[in-house]
Amino acid sequence: MVVKVNTATLLGIEGKIVIAEADFSNGLPSFDIVGLPDAAVKEAKERVKAAIRNSEFEFPAKKAVINLAPADLKKEGSQFDLPIAISCLAGTLQLTAKFDDYVFLGELGLSGEIRGVSGILSSVIGGKEAGFTKFIVPFDNRLEAALVENVEIYGAKSLSEVYMHITGEKPIEVTVPQVIDEEEFLYECDFAEVKGQEKLRRGVEIAVAGGHNVLMVGSPGSGKSMIAKRIPTIMPKMSFDEVLEVTKIHSVAGVLQSGKAVTKRPFRAPHHSASGVSIVGGGAKAKPGEISLAHKGVLFLDELPEYKKDVIEAMRQPIEDGMVTVARATGTYTYPSNVMLVCAMNPCRCGYYGDENKKCRCTESDVARYLGKVSGPMLDRIDIQLEAKSVKYDDLQKPEGEKSSAMRERIERARAIQSERYKNESVSCNADLSGGLVEKYCILGEGEKALLEKAFKQLNMSARAYSRILKVARTIADLDGRENIDSMDIAEAIGYRSLDKKLWK
Ligand SMILES: Nc1ncnc2c1ncn2[C@@H]1O[C@H](COP(=O)(O)OP(=O)(O)O)[C@@H](O)[C@H]1O
Ligand SMILES: [Mg+2]
Ligand SMILES: [Zn+2]
Repeated sequence: MVVKVNTATLLGIEGKIVIAEADFSNGLPSFDIVGLPDAAVKEAKERVKAAIRNSEFEFPAKKAVINLAPADLKKEGSQFDLPIAISCLAGTLQLTAKFDDYVFLGELGLSGEIRGVSGILSSVIGGKEAGFTKFIVPFDNRLEAALVENVEIYGAKSLSEVYMHITGEKPIEVTVPQVIDEEEFLYECDFAEVKGQEKLRRGVEIAVAGGHNVLMVGSPGSGKSMIAKRIPTIMPKMSFDEVLEVTKIHSVAGVLQSGKAVTKRPFRAPHHSASGVSIVGGGAKAKPGEISLAHKGVLFLDELPEYKKDVIEAMRQPIEDGMVTVARATGTYTYPSNVMLVCAMNPCRCGYYGDENKKCRCTESDVARYLGKVSGPMLDRIDIQLEAKSVKYDDLQKPEGEKSSAMRERIERARAIQSERYKNESVSCNADLSGGLVEKYCILGEGEKALLEKAFKQLNMSARAYSRILKVARTIADLDGRENIDSMDIAEAIGYRSLDKKLWK
C-alpha cells in the first residue's frame, strides 16, 4: 500500500512542495528513506522511529520505503520528520482519516514532540502557490506561517496532537495571525539622542534619501557607531511585502526572534574578523549571510580597513547587484542583498590623524598604509564620505537633537519623488542610476556645469566620482523638492567627495 503526504523543501529562500510517498510491504522489517542526503536520512530515521514508539503508536514491522518526490529535487532540512511519521501511521492503518489537503512540516524529538524548523514562511508561501490552504507546522513557527494570507495554520506541539487533529478527536485551533500594530515598527533608539553633529546628520539624511552608500571617517568617540545604529530609524517604514521578504530570509537563516515577523529594518554589523561565508552566505549549509540578513536595511562595516581583502572583494558584487548567488552541490541559489552600506573607520591606526584636540602618533607613511587598506574600487562604491569630528562640549549641553520621525518624513517625501520619476525605469532611487540614466535625469544648467567642470579639474576627479556627485546633487535637490539641480546642490555634493583628496589623494 502506498500513501502520500504533502510537505515542502527549500530552494534558497523559496519553498517548494514535496511529496513523501510511503510503501509498506511484507518482508524482512526494514526502514529506508530515499531522496534525502545520506546523513539526514540516518538522523530522520532514528527520530521518526523513536517519536512513533514514544507517542504510543507502533512502528511498522514491515519493509518500509519512503520516497521524497520528486527525486531529482535536492531536499534539505529536518521538516520531513513529521510527514514521514504521518506516512508511517497511515501506511499501517493506524491513521485512517483523510489528510491529503494538508501540508505537514516539522522536526520530531525522540519523545514525539514537534520542534521548530527554519524557513517555514517560505514553505507556506510555496505551498499556497501550489494550491494548498491547510498547513500543520511546529507550534513555535505558527506566527511566521500565519503571515501568509488566506491559509489555515495549525501550530502543533506533538505527533499525538497532529493525530488527534486529523482524526477530529481534538482539533487544533487555527492560528490567529499576529497583528502588526504601529508599535512593532518603532525602534529602541532615535536620532534625537545624537547631539550637535549637524553636518553628519545632514550627510546621513541625504544618503538615506537617495539610497547612497556612506563612509564616516573620524577619531574614536566621535559618534560614528551611534549614528550608524540609528540609520534604520530614518529609513522609510517597511511595507508589508518588505516585511514578508525580510522575514523569509531571517527564517531560512534560523535567526527569527520568537517566530515573529521582522518589522524593523535590519541593522547588521558583522565583525571584521568574520569569515567570507558568514558575511556573504553559502558554505556547507548554504545559509544566507549577513549581507542578506541586512536586506532592506543597513549593513554596517565598522573599522573598514580591518576587513580582509578577500572578504571585501566577495561583498562587492552582491552589494552592487542587490543579490548573492551561492553555488552548491544541490543547486544554485540566490539570496537578496539589497542593503544600504554604511562604513566607518578611524583615519589612522592611533585614531587621531587630523583631530583638532588630540595629537596623532602615526608617521605619514603609517597613515598612508592604513588608509591604503581601503581599496579604490571599494571607495568608488561609496557616494557620500563624511568627516566625523569630535562632538563639541557645548553641543553636549544642548537638549535633544531632531527626532528620527522628522528626518524620516523628509526622506519619505524625497523617496516618493524618485519613485514617481523612475516609475518607467528599472531603478528606484538616485543611487541606482547608471550610465545614460545619470545624464537623462541629472541635467545641469550652464552655471552648474561650469562649477562642476572647475571642481573636476581642480580636484583632479575621476569619471566615477563625477557621476556620483551628479547623483548626490540630484538627491539634495529632491530633498528640497526641486526638479532642477542648482549650484548649491553641486557644491554640497562635491563636499561629500572631499576625503578622496584629503586622505586618499
Ligand atoms: N553627538 C553625540 N551626542 C551624544 N552622545 C554622543 C555623541 N557622540 C558620541 N556620543 C557618546 O559617545 C559614545 C561613543 O560614541 P561612538 O558612536 O561609539 O563613537 P565612534 O564609533 O565614533 O568611536 C556614544 O555611545 C555616546 O554615548
Ligand atoms: Mg565605533
Ligand atoms: Zn594616528
